[in-house]
Amino acid sequence: MKYFNDLADFSNEEIQALITLAARLDTNPEPEALRGKVLSLLFLSPSLRTLASFQAAMTRLGGGSFVISPEMSIHGIESRPGIVMDGAAAEHIREAIPVIASYGDAIGIRAFAERKNIDADMQENEFTSLTDLIDTPYINMESAMNHPCQSLADWKTLDDLNVPANGGKFVLSWAYHPRALPLAVPAATLHMAAKRGMDVTVLRPEGFELPQALMQKAISAAEAAGGSVTETDQRSEAMQGAHIIYAKSWSSTHHYGNKINDQKLREQHLDWCVDEPWFANAKDDCRFMHCLPVRRGVVVADEILDGPRSVVIAEARNRMLAQMAVLHQMLGGAS
Ligand code: CP
Repeated sequence: MKYFNDLADFSNEEIQALITLAARLDTNPEPEALRGKVLSLLFLSPSLRTLASFQAAMTRLGGGSFVISPEMSIHGIESRPGIVMDGAAAEHIREAIPVIASYGDAIGIRAFAERKNIDADMQENEFTSLTDLIDTPYINMESAMNHPCQSLADWKTLDDLNVPANGGKFVLSWAYHPRALPLAVPAATLHMAAKRGMDVTVLRPEGFELPQALMQKAISAAEAAGGSVTETDQRSEAMQGAHIIYAKSWSSTHHYGNKINDQKLREQHLDWCVDEPWFANAKDDCRFMHCLPVRRGVVVADEILDGPRSVVIAEARNRMLAQMAVLHQMLGGAS
């Protein structure tokens, strides 16, 4: 494996093999598998889980890692092309990335969406401009419209819970959040559940429809796997018979890049906070998923996060296991 950039690049059999490997590495540790290997981690956007889980994954497999982020004591990094660097930044990304990559056997890169122009973000212009600078194997640790590591971990969590693939009902629901957040997790989650063969419903208020290209990608994946994709703004209809509700906030696609208009619209939906009444006509054991971090009392009520429906901690632990499997395959761990 040279790149881990999008679950769409892998067959369902290849994904299942990664999940099987992740489970095996959990029960049968391989502390020598990646001895001498180094993973470079470049965080141009903040993180808790991704940063910690990649470092833990490399350590558990006997390798090492290092982290670079703009908040560290480094020279300011300039990323604009063609700029005359007479300001504060003393280092350009065009040199920084190849240097960082040259110290490792693979590199993980996180660069959130710019959220100015939806077409530029949909085309992954920023992430591609970074990966174009290197030949090293790389891992997408969250780009404008993708978060494949989260999706692989979430697929494993669904398998661990024995949630049916075909016939399983998966609700991806928008939730209120005071800020306009990226589309990466909803985009990746929608595609993951569809590719797994589930019946996926996107539940969102008007103005928060996901881009048509993302919906179409998911519909194609669902058709290939025996699932389906629908969308609605009707909560009760969406939750009917649901096995899973996966909550996430995202930006209004009607006001992408316009914080003021986005905020005016989202503030009309303060009641989109998942609490027990949401589950009235779901499966009795319907579970709550979220990638974290999550705002308590805003996105979801404490009663859900602290109750038996929540699997958010299992999801987060599966990040480490799923990434161990990716690293094992990418960096040639003995099988
Ligand atoms: N879910 C996730 O990617 O968490 P972090 O942003 O903390 O890495």
